[in-house]
Amino acid sequence: MKKGFFLSLEGPEGAGKTTLAQRLARWFAERGAEVVQTREPGGTELGGAIRALLLNQPMGARAEFLLYLADRAEHVERVIRPALLEGKVVIADRYADSSYAYQGYGRGLSLAWMKAATEGATGGLVPDLTILLDLDPEEGLRRSGRTDRLEREDLDFHRRVREGYLALAEAEPERFRVIDANRPLERVWRSVERAVEKAWSG
Ligand code: TYD
Repeated sequence: MKKGFFLSLEGPEGAGKTTLAQRLARWFAERGAEVVQTREPGGTELGGAIRALLLNQPMGARAEFLLYLADRAEHVERVIRPALLEGKVVIADRYADSSYAYQGYGRGLSLAWMKAATEGATGGLVPDLTILLDLDPEEGLRRSGRTDRLEREDLDFHRRVREGYLALAEAEPERFRVIDANRPLERVWRSVERAVEKAWSG
């Protein structure tokens, strides 16, 4: 039996992550893998409650990170790790790199602190492959229909998130594949498929 495979999808809103996650799930299933498709925040019952808090309750950056991390700890313990132990393919729509990009690069929290806390909370579980869908923030926000309401500082925040993602990818080229998402979905999909094919067989 093939050992479990942990794939995370990262990138901004509007990059097509959700559609690509669905296609990936089908792609793996067609090749005989058992697939668990999941997402953060909100992949567990506790995660659903945390997600609602994160969406509705104003809070500081540290509390925000720790709530994402609580969600992640539960997600790993109840969903991701058990599935991997059963040899399944886990496709996660966002994982720890989202926190490093948004709360770290975006909001300025210490990456060293976040990484140490994440290591403890997840037992050091790191994806086998991380697909980063790279997109200019203005294009992403346009696609998700938010350009009009956006204030200038929001755009700066999303620029820092993008640069952060690219820096994370550069620091771990073995794990990351950066894919240009500013193309028609079919072409983005073909790049994703190639990256996954290579990593999964290797
Ligand atoms: P979500 O509602 O799933 O939207 P998307 O379709 O973009 O994934 O994501 C919720 C938001 O939470 C998204 O703007 C990114 C943010 N987020 C963080 O800031 N840190 C994190 O650790 C995670 C997992 C998400």
